[in-house]
Amino acid sequence: MTLIETVQDLRAWRKSAGHLVFVPTMGALHEGHATLVREARQLAGPQSKVAASIFVNPLQFGPNEDFDRYPRTLEKDLSMCAEAGADMVFAPSVQEVYHANRSIQIRESRLSNVLCGASRPGHFDGVCTVVAKLFNLLQPDEAVFGKKDYQQLAIIRRLVRDLDIPVIVHGIETVRESDGLAMSSRNRYLSAAERAQAPALRLALTQARAAWLSGVTGSQKLIELIRNVLANEASLGRPDYISLVDQETLQPQQIAHEHSLIALAVFFDQARLIDNIELSH
Ligand code: PAF
Repeated sequence: MTLIETVQDLRAWRKSAGHLVFVPTMGALHEGHATLVREARQLAGPQSKVAASIFVNPLQFGPNEDFDRYPRTLEKDLSMCAEAGADMVFAPSVQEVYHANRSIQIRESRLSNVLCGASRPGHFDGVCTVVAKLFNLLQPDEAVFGKKDYQQLAIIRRLVRDLDIPVIVHGIETVRESDGLAMSSRNRYLSAAERAQAPALRLALTQARAAWLSGVTGSQKLIELIRNVLANEASLGRPDYISLVDQETLQPQQIAHEHSLIALAVFFDQARLIDNIELSH
């Protein structure tokens, strides 16, 4: 596996790479990321190439967020990428990606105002800007994103559509711990007591989906159900939002249907966890 750190070397590598499947990450890789790389390998087959990027993007962190303490574990990340089948990892410095006097930023103005975007102003502008840059740099034919960050996935689909970027975007199912907790680089910020309660997010979402399957369709009822499960099972957490939205537009809905998504975020002391469930049959 090749490690590339500069744009110049990347452009040289890309010239002869052929069909490329790309997995953007911020590093601190876990089994969820390894699954994305393995999926990319599967999509690429033996003939095509798989690349991952490891870049902690300062633009997507708010002033009081965890950019400085975000875990950086490059050596371990590189081994995981190699084991999962990546041919190349692009791991540039911040200076390599962003010009000191840069003055262009991409702004998504509809899907970003709800869910996580409502409590993280500017976050998805940072995501869109870096993903557009990475797409320009790597020029992948296909890219793979996890469904845990469902809002991000929906926004990237919109980015690709609205800016006519010729990349096929694949959404991959969330990888979970054995107790249901969605894997996340931020789970390491949980205390032991919080970690014991964190599977309640998944429990609440699956119970809401079961209620929907048995005929409960009103958003208030479904949200109330989730609120009660969290109050009983995750007393150390404080819900940020619990929302019923459309899977594509992310706009809030009063009545749940096949194309709905329930998404939530819960604050623990040092971590804010997110999860979601599609209400499709
Ligand atoms: O999901 C992530 O890890 C990041 O938001 C991404 C897509 C790599 C952009 O920095």
